[in-house]
Amino acid sequence: MTSTDRNSASGPADQPGVARAPIRTFHPRRGRLSGRHVDALDRLGPAFRLPVPEDPATTAATDPNPATTDPTAAAATAPDPATAPDPVAEPVDLPALFGRRAPVVLEIGSGMGEATAAMAAADPDRDYLAAEVHTPGIANLLAMIDRRGLTNVRVADGDALVLLRLLPPASLAAIHLFFPDPWPKTRHHKRRLIQPGNVALLRDRLEPDGRLLCATDSHDYANAMRETLTADPELVNAYAGFAPRPDDRPVTKFERRALAARRPVFDLVFVRKGAGPVGGDRSGQGRIDRR
Ligand SMILES: C[S@@+](CC[C@H](N)C(=O)[O-])C[C@H]1O[C@@H](n2cnc3c(N)ncnc32)[C@H](O)[C@@H]1O
Repeated sequence: MTSTDRNSASGPADQPGVARAPIRTFHPRRGRLSGRHVDALDRLGPAFRLPVPEDPATTAATDPNPATTDPTAAAATAPDPATAPDPVAEPVDLPALFGRRAPVVLEIGSGMGEATAAMAAADPDRDYLAAEVHTPGIANLLAMIDRRGLTNVRVADGDALVLLRLLPPASLAAIHLFFPDPWPKTRHHKRRLIQPGNVALLRDRLEPDGRLLCATDSHDYANAMRETLTADPELVNAYAGFAPRPDDRPVTKFERRALAARRPVFDLVFVRKGAGPVGGDRSGQGRIDRR
């Protein structure tokens, strides 16, 4: 792992001998678990959940909005330690996790899991690993896995930036980042998932020709993502600019909200350089091929 693999804050931690504190890309949130969600966590967690260890430095980082840091929130949403599996401490063995060898798609910040469940159901030849920190969202996706009888979904319970460091290089066919938290204030931009310090890690975990798909309704973040991803010499934009909306990207609450407010949604597709030509349409006019 290189230093660019880590999402680091600057400041006093830059001084020699002082640990650099990785920073959170998510809001700590209180979440109420319904009976259905508690049941999903208890019954399906052992088979479908991949607990991700805490990054000690991440948990020590200062939250930008102390009002949201409620010490009781973690307790309210934390899985029962008696039934929760041990967090992974070693590199993740993806074929063992899914019980087969198939292309793997990582969705970062799966929210309530609507997109993951719908895409996995429509794409049974690929495996979907959803990473989320919000326990009700994790439980909701587990319940959908059960309801739809999905066998190609696993839910990583924890920080995707920690998970990525536990995944082997070149192990992902695609990374999906749909409506990531936009962190609109300039002083919070360092908390955005797509930022220079994280791109090398994301790109390294993609296989050659693997695709990074992003969608956002924040024009500012969309431009920043495009600029940051374009700056990586190993990534190529599959389109001349923003991508057409992929037909198979399900509409989630965040897109519905944007459309209702007449905010445009921006899609991006970047491809890790590989042996062959990059698929897509560099004119920006055509449709995206699914994978
Ligand atoms: C705005 S929501 C979008 C959810 C979903 N992609 C959708 O379109 O409905 C962003 C989600 O990313 C999650 N998130 C942010 N940073 C994360 C991280 N480092 N690891 C895992 N999840 C993260 C948040 O908890 C939140 O659920």
